Amino acid sequence: MAIFRENFNRPHRSAHTNRFMFVSHLEGALSGTTLSAGEQHTTHEGRPIIVRYDLDRVAKAVSRPDLHARADTMWKLRELLPVPTGAEVSLGEHATPILRCNRLGARFGLKNLWVKDESSLPTGSFKSRGQAIAISMAKSFGTKRVAIPTAGNAGGAMAAYAARAGLEAWVMMPEDTPVVNQLEAWLAGANVILVKGLIDDCGKLVAAGATHMDWFDMSTLKEPYRIEGKKTMGLELAEQFNWKLPDVIVYPTGGGTGLIGMWKAFAELAEIGWIAPDRFPRMVAVQSEGCAPIVRAFDQGKRFCERFENAETIARGLRVPYALGDFMILDAIAESQGCAVAVQESRIQEWMKTATAAEGISFCPESAACIGAVEMLADDGWIQRDDHVVLFNCSSARKYADMIDLDLPKIDPADSLDWDQLRSAFASKH
Ligand SMILES: Cc1ncc(COP(=O)(O)O)c(C=O)c1O
Repeated sequence: MAIFRENFNRPHRSAHTNRFMFVSHLEGALSGTTLSAGEQHTTHEGRPIIVRYDLDRVAKAVSRPDLHARADTMWKLRELLPVPTGAEVSLGEHATPILRCNRLGARFGLKNLWVKDESSLPTGSFKSRGQAIAISMAKSFGTKRVAIPTAGNAGGAMAAYAARAGLEAWVMMPEDTPVVNQLEAWLAGANVILVKGLIDDCGKLVAAGATHMDWFDMSTLKEPYRIEGKKTMGLELAEQFNWKLPDVIVYPTGGGTGLIGMWKAFAELAEIGWIAPDRFPRMVAVQSEGCAPIVRAFDQGKRFCERFENAETIARGLRVPYALGDFMILDAIAESQGCAVAVQESRIQEWMKTATAAEGISFCPESAACIGAVEMLADDGWIQRDDHVVLFNCSSARKYADMIDLDLPKIDPADSLDWDQLRSAFASKH
């Protein structure tokens, strides 16, 4: 690990000489307009911008066996990442485990259920991936101050990577964001502000302050590079499955960067000939019925969402009433012949508990919603017994400790204890 950390944080010797090694250009995701990779971008005509690579050159420069000799980290397939060599801001983003879950699978009648567990990344969630790349790029463009609206985990991650990079960070989060997210951002030195409102209200404040405060807006999909970080979930998954992708990916969808990023990863891997172009997974976007703008648009056959009013869910990462990349999420679902499903809000805590107890993986509420989705889709036959299914656990229950109902029995050692009574109190659990 020590060697790994040193490697990724060596001085900026060659930061600018090979900036464009494999990135060919940027592109407006909606309009297809070509944009230069040489300058820092936000959005194009109000919509996200994506990074394009010279994939012919990538295919010539690296092959699948080359990866064996490389460290098992998020940066492994660096030919498909935009960060110039030497400009990496890293906290040690190892590849995350892919865990077979036979006990959980059996409950839903599935033979091949896997969980990709992102909780062990440096900031305790998959947001490390996006922020590692976005902050590396921001720093390499000379940015000194960054700001972010967040549902929680992205703000904690941005604060940590900004601290690592020596940048000033501003984080705006809804006032009822989990305390751990507030704490981690504050501890990392960010200026943390609690906002009476939701993530899009925070987003408006970050946008409104940009000129006056001279900060760079790191909102989801308002800069091109967080997608590239999240893309590494797809790159990693493909390698872990020996370049044969699973049949179904079940992903908790808020702003959608992860789903969009993985879909982009698969397209790029197919283009360089590493995976079969006709065997992509069906992508399932999971939301809570308390905030389901993507599911509503999917059900109505639309490509763009309307704001979901009165959004509320314990799965704070899913409490995104409006996603700037709505059409990118819905396109990926459609192209993959996937679907979008909303699960019962009132059952999310139950799924957290039962899934964690079944496998020992600490499920965050967002991914507990995915457990509900798998149950629903297996029940109605959309997911079949032999399908290979991967569910993303994007964070862990630990981050939501203050939000979970917990009422444990107490014992006073001074009282005499009736062991039979104690056993029968817990009997239903076994
Ligand atoms: C734990 C968790 N799961 C899922 C999501 C949604 O992720 P995405 O923005 O990639 O849709 C978030 C976003 O905050 C999150 O924190």
